[in-house]
Amino acid sequence: MRTQVGIVGAGPAGLMLSHLLHLRGIDTVVLECRSRDHVERRVRAGVLEQGSVDLLVRTGVGERLLREGLRHEGIELRFDGESHRVPMTELTGRAITVYGQQEVVKDLIAARLATGGRILFEVDDVRPGGLDTDAPVIRFRHGGRAAELHCDFVAGCDGFHGVSRAAVPAGVLSTYERTYPFAWLGVLAAAPPAVDELIYAYHERGFALYSLRSPQVSRLYLQVAPDEDIADWPDERIWSELRTRLETVPGWSLNEGPILAKGITPMRSFVVEPMRWQRLFLAGDAVHIVPPTGAKGMNLALSDVALLGDAFAAWYAGGRTDLLDAYSRTALERVWRAQHFSWWMTSLLHRLNTDDPYEAKLQSAQLRYVTTSRAYATSLAENYVGPPG
Ligand code: APR
Ligand code: PHB
Repeated sequence: MRTQVGIVGAGPAGLMLSHLLHLRGIDTVVLECRSRDHVERRVRAGVLEQGSVDLLVRTGVGERLLREGLRHEGIELRFDGESHRVPMTELTGRAITVYGQQEVVKDLIAARLATGGRILFEVDDVRPGGLDTDAPVIRFRHGGRAAELHCDFVAGCDGFHGVSRAAVPAGVLSTYERTYPFAWLGVLAAAPPAVDELIYAYHERGFALYSLRSPQVSRLYLQVAPDEDIADWPDERIWSELRTRLETVPGWSLNEGPILAKGITPMRSFVVEPMRWQRLFLAGDAVHIVPPTGAKGMNLALSDVALLGDAFAAWYAGGRTDLLDAYSRTALERVWRAQHFSWWMTSLLHRLNTDDPYEAKLQSAQLRYVTTSRAYATSLAENYVGPPG
């Protein structure tokens, strides 16, 4: 099999890259180890920055997003029994849209398949090779058979646990990381959200987040210990803890309903540099992870591949290498801004598991400052909504 750009991974990064390259007349094949059904159902993040929405709409895959996505112009910070609204749109002119990552994935898969795009699901044993030659080849197994994909470039969009990053020889990449002494327990519930905007709550028992997916479905999170076992969290315990951490404002209560899905996600910050080695270009979670508190993960994946799409297009249009050469440096600027913001939101809002009362006082002072200073709130807002598209 032959293509121009071989893409490993059918998450938002791999699928969007395939779509962008198709619009430029560049052929791709996407290799995905899971089934189509699995990737379309996987519950993940749900916040799109304005620039991500603009990209999806501009490239013709935003129709359902514009119909079903929920545009939000502010978020609420809740602490010390008080609610404070950060009016993001008033402060920045931009908004966010709540739309599940798996919905973006469904829309992109449908768009690719409608125009004859090749996505191979349930492939095994993917091994990118020849990356330091001008004829890379990705070896894999599909339907029990060994296969080869010959290409000009390989795009490693296979997430944190993927194989692409590991194909780079030892000593080339530098890793920067931090693990946090807590995790998030997330639930999807068939309950109409009791909120119009997301609530980020700081509580002495730990952080809680009230988000949503639709007028009928709520998405809620609790800070828990990193080694917490989901089996120890029957539904009633989850609701009780959510009530304790969120029902801190007089007269306000959340809406409960059947829990449709639940899981525990570790929190980490992680970056490897550079995002390229020879003919391998890495994008999305394969090269950087942010804790979910800043809602940046899916947006970073999309902004990486927007750059990569332009860079491949310039190469195929006339052999220009400047954008390919600049890819890692350009993408990392945005990545590090999001790393800092995500770390900052995380440190601001979580119970830090230190017994140091000085830390708690600093958190309190920051929460007070961000909810009383227009300058500081604007800084939060412009990071949260992301740069102009
Ligand atoms: N071979 C083929 N496919 C693989 C392999 C492999 N060895 N390893 C992983 N994959 C697939 C995964 O099954 C997944 O579908 O690569 C895809 C990677 O997709 P994501 O993990 O969604 O990563 P990305 O596209 O970079 O999107 C980042 O995902 O985890 C969230 O918070 C994150 O929102 C962010 C987004
Ligand atoms: C979500 O809706 O899944 C969500 C929202 C905001 C976050 C993280 C996750 O910061």
